[in-house]
Amino acid sequence: MAEQHRPVTVHELLGMKQRGERIVVLTCYDALFARLLDGSGVDVLLVGDSVNQVLAGAETTLSATLDQMIYHTKIVRRGAERAMVVCDMPFLTYQVSREDAIRNCGRVMAETGCHGVKLEGGKPVAETVRALVDVGIPVMGHLGLTPQSVHALGGYHVQGRDERTADRLKQDAQALEAAGAFAIVLELIPAPLASQITKSLTIPTIGIGAGPACDGQVLVLHDMLGLNDRFSAKFVKRYAALADDAREAVKRFAAEVREGRYPGPEHSFEK
Ligand code: KIV
Repeated sequence: MAEQHRPVTVHELLGMKQRGERIVVLTCYDALFARLLDGSGVDVLLVGDSVNQVLAGAETTLSATLDQMIYHTKIVRRGAERAMVVCDMPFLTYQVSREDAIRNCGRVMAETGCHGVKLEGGKPVAETVRALVDVGIPVMGHLGLTPQSVHALGGYHVQGRDERTADRLKQDAQALEAAGAFAIVLELIPAPLASQITKSLTIPTIGIGAGPACDGQVLVLHDMLGLNDRFSAKFVKRYAALADDAREAVKRFAAEVREGRYPGPEHSFEK
């Protein structure tokens, strides 16, 4: 973990890969958790469009909007001092045209104060990545199970199990690195493939369901805290059971209110 308090930079992430130091990434959607994660030494806070599922209750990430992502990124940025903040660009904000992508990503950078954006896809978005990098916008790529393409992929399944898809993913990773991406998220791909891709790149890979060889790991915060206990997947390790704790606390509050035990004298004012 870097020692300084200014935000972690893309160059520092590269240095971490070179030194074999693992990069710690978590999703974050608000200032309260941003402060908590930042103070716990998380290197990158990813404002994922998964916010649309986790907090807004939608089925997929497809209906996340630019205004929604700008709002969440702005409030995450308020709580972050040391961590790099990366905003996930929502569906159709970067695929329509390069001009559109520059305008939308530029708006995100200018209005939120974040340090970079994330786009899904490989070769088809490589020229867009190049154009964004050329105007000074750091870009993180995202390959493998790309949730904005969930319907085209036929569900949330492991990608790259067959040779043809594995080869395509390797080429996509090369194309993103050549276009100037500063890191690539590898989601739900076999561990040996993630290892090969990681070794073939100068830039760091950040795995989620992609095995231990990636240069860093990311999880959805609410999954690893056991807050979103309706979602489970093989790759998610629960480090806490906060949904159970929250339910228990709410039940105790309700019982105490109903029985007239809360508020007690210690919570009340005599005058
Ligand atoms: O939207 C998201 O949270 C993500 C991460 C899971 C990589 O893209």
